[in-house]
Amino acid sequence: MIPSQLLVSATFLVFCFLKVSSSATFTAAVYEHAVILPNVTLTPVSSEEALALMNRNLDLLEAAIISAAKQGAQIIVTPEDGIYGMIFTRTSIYSYLEDIPDPQVNWIPCDNPNRFGLAPVQRRLSCLAKGNAIYVVANIGDKKPCNTSDPQCPPDGRYQYNTNVVFDSQGKLVARYHKRHLFMNEDQFDTPKEAEVVTFDTAFGKFGIFTCFDVLFHDPAVMLVKDSHVDTVLFPTAWMNVLPHLSAVEFHSAWAMGMGVNFLASNLHNPLLRMTGSGIYAPDSPRKFHYDMETQEGKLLVSQLDSHPYRPEVNWTSYASSIEAFSVRNQEFKGTVFYDEYIFVELKGITGNYTVCQKDLCCHLSYQMSEKRSDEVYALGAFDGLHTAEGQYYLQVCTLLKCKTTNVQSCGDSVDTAATRFEMFSLSGTFGTQYVFPEVLLSEVQLAPREFQVMSDGRLQSLQPTSRPLLTVTLFGRFYDRDGLRDASIDLGAHALRGLVMVLMPILYALCW
Ligand SMILES: *[C@@H]1O[C@H](CO)[C@@H](O)[C@H](O)[C@H]1NC(C)=O
Ligand SMILES: *[C@@H]1O[C@H](CO)[C@@H](O)[C@H](O)[C@H]1NC(C)=O
Ligand SMILES: *[C@@H]1O[C@H](CO)[C@@H](O)[C@H](O)[C@H]1NC(C)=O
Ligand SMILES: *[C@@H]1O[C@H](CO)[C@@H](O)[C@H](O)[C@H]1NC(C)=O
Repeated sequence: MIPSQLLVSATFLVFCFLKVSSSATFTAAVYEHAVILPNVTLTPVSSEEALALMNRNLDLLEAAIISAAKQGAQIIVTPEDGIYGMIFTRTSIYSYLEDIPDPQVNWIPCDNPNRFGLAPVQRRLSCLAKGNAIYVVANIGDKKPCNTSDPQCPPDGRYQYNTNVVFDSQGKLVARYHKRHLFMNEDQFDTPKEAEVVTFDTAFGKFGIFTCFDVLFHDPAVMLVKDSHVDTVLFPTAWMNVLPHLSAVEFHSAWAMGMGVNFLASNLHNPLLRMTGSGIYAPDSPRKFHYDMETQEGKLLVSQLDSHPYRPEVNWTSYASSIEAFSVRNQEFKGTVFYDEYIFVELKGITGNYTVCQKDLCCHLSYQMSEKRSDEVYALGAFDGLHTAEGQYYLQVCTLLKCKTTNVQSCGDSVDTAATRFEMFSLSGTFGTQYVFPEVLLSEVQLAPREFQVMSDGRLQSLQPTSRPLLTVTLFGRFYDRDGLRDASIDLGAHALRGLVMVLMPILYALCW
């Protein structure tokens, strides 16, 4: 972590020069990396074998970094688990780990590689950053010895952390972030005692960083935006897509828009594990995104962004709580979305107005379809409750979605193609939270840049007919205050599931490594 006082003390003058030359825009790159997985992950390998595998991945990252720099990128983000893969035990990951010091030590590994013990991976990343004069963001593993003077020290005498590192364009380590919200089967790593709020300043804005599953929680993700006022979030991830609401490009672009920040999301590429979906997202619109379930190839995205994006104020409940419910003459029914029980109504006509409520949340929709097909059913749903599968988090969600089949029992099931375009939609809800992420997803998991907007009164509205058939229009609200304390019985359930996840990983609804 770089505390701000560091920047205003010793480096005050340098910082002033940076400020003077600070730029209005910058060029960012994210790399969706088809990680080479080790053949053996559950039994330990030697440090030499571990390093050989990591170097094979670094060779691919190197090519992406060089290409990004040639295209003028000032920063590149690479994915979580992009250097050694995933699904390890505490013991088997150990040979992949390096001691990663606090960035305050002021270290350029490329110039002084052995200052903190063997660190070949940090050295190589630092040299790639320095040699190409580009900020490099990567995800590696940190090890920190501990002993009985610390009652929380694990029995094997060390902490192991899922860690993001950032090297600046001189190769200096400027940020280290230990993932706070480990996903359910990340047994190889420890959770840091507190959420780390890690930021650093550049001539092109203030940056914050977190990892994968962290994006669903308040600390540190929301703190970075609300308290530290970062402009751009760096987001290495290993994200398994879950439709209808948590496909990578869909949710990450919505987070950028809902929070009013740039968001650089770099995912692993592994279609078998449903891992694809990276992007460069600005608050007003996605700039570049990539979703590819067909090829096995990695993909580099490069785009320009505003250094200090405009952050509009939205009152997410203002419109919805100011209008009468549209008359509900309609048959309501229950449907399940990613283990949550929603209340739905079917959209019967080519055009219409509907309201559906659950607990405190009422969702209003006005819409017009291009045609009312007999082979497709759309529904409006509301959910106000605690999600408990693969993590515990309170949601308030208003969603217009395509049902998988014409049987309304299928509403909420994953479906990735559709045939119905919408001429117009306007969705709003009586949210009790100010954290709402607006999602619009089109057929074949495509985003809809500049086809919709969020009004300051909280309406999510189309600006034009959809350019493709529609999968979903959703206001995905997170009610952090209601997450409550973790329930021991849920922890136990998650533990029992872990073994299963390892075996059945590709077919389970897992989210995030
Ligand atoms: C895994 O084993 C196969 C077959 O022996 C070999 O071709 C491949 O290079 C190995 N992969 C790694 C990452 O070592
Ligand atoms: C235990 O760890 C602390 C800090 O990590 C260190 O200062 C101390 O010397 C260690 N004690 C022993 C007995 O190893
Ligand atoms: C949002 O709008 C509602 C209804 O107009 C109002 O009651 C509420 O105070 C507003 N919330 C904020 C945070 O301004
Ligand atoms: C839906 O509501 C809008 C505005 O309240 C109204 O203009 C429109 O006629 C309504 N549409 C239908 C199909 O009822």
